Amino acid sequence: MIVARTLSELRGVQARLGSLALVPTMGALHDGHLALVAVAKGSGLDVATSIFVNPMQFGPSEDFSRYPRNEDADLVKLEAAGCALAWLPDVATMYPPGDATAISVYGPAENFEGAIRPNHFRGVATVVAKLFGQIRPERAYFGEKDWQQLQVVRRMVEDLLLPVRIEVVETRREPDGLALSSRNRYLSPAQRAAAPVLYQTLTALRAALHGGAAPRPAINAAIARLEEAGFVPDYCALVDAESLEPIEAVRPPSRLLVAARLDGIRLLDTVGVN
Ligand code: PAF
Repeated sequence: MIVARTLSELRGVQARLGSLALVPTMGALHDGHLALVAVAKGSGLDVATSIFVNPMQFGPSEDFSRYPRNEDADLVKLEAAGCALAWLPDVATMYPPGDATAISVYGPAENFEGAIRPNHFRGVATVVAKLFGQIRPERAYFGEKDWQQLQVVRRMVEDLLLPVRIEVVETRREPDGLALSSRNRYLSPAQRAAAPVLYQTLTALRAALHGGAAPRPAINAAIARLEEAGFVPDYCALVDAESLEPIEAVRPPSRLLVAARLDGIRLLDTVGVN
């Protein structure tokens, strides 16, 4: 595996590699990221994984400085996973002096995470567009868990006619259902014990909707269940899977989105509803 940290190193390496499949990450790699790499490898393309903790997508009171970083362990994992290129730019490479362009996506970026974390998706869209410009991938792989992020990236790619195919990879979970996330490592043992209630509530809500329950009362019951388990829910919503518009009745493709805090640690999850 080749490790590149500057644009000139990257350009030198790219001449030696074939078409690329990009897995963008912020590091602290877990099995969910490695599943993205495995699916990307299945494309037959050379896999490039980027590791960049993007300051632009964190709010002033968010966890940028304490976001988990473990570069050495990440590189070992990527090498073992058969990654061809690890791209590790620093902040000055990503946002050089004079940098004056940002990408604002509206529509799917506006509600939910976009409302709770102002400028988050501006940071995500900008850095993903820069990564596409740097790596020039044929395909890029994103996890289903961050469903809103996926729709924001898809919208940007379609609107800007970017020459990259966006692929989605199913959420990887712990045996008790908790979606894998770099932030799970912040959970205390008691919080970790409570955390699977998020997915259990979501799947119970989906089963109720599949059984014909009216969405609004079923969602209210799910919110009450989360509160009983110690969560502070930020949102629990039935949405159109692409536009992320809240909807009052299931009409495929629909999705349930949930975000809730356990003593300040935010957990997100999502399931499709048919
Ligand atoms: O999902 C993430 O890890 C980040 O939002 C991404 C896509 C790598 C952009 O920084």
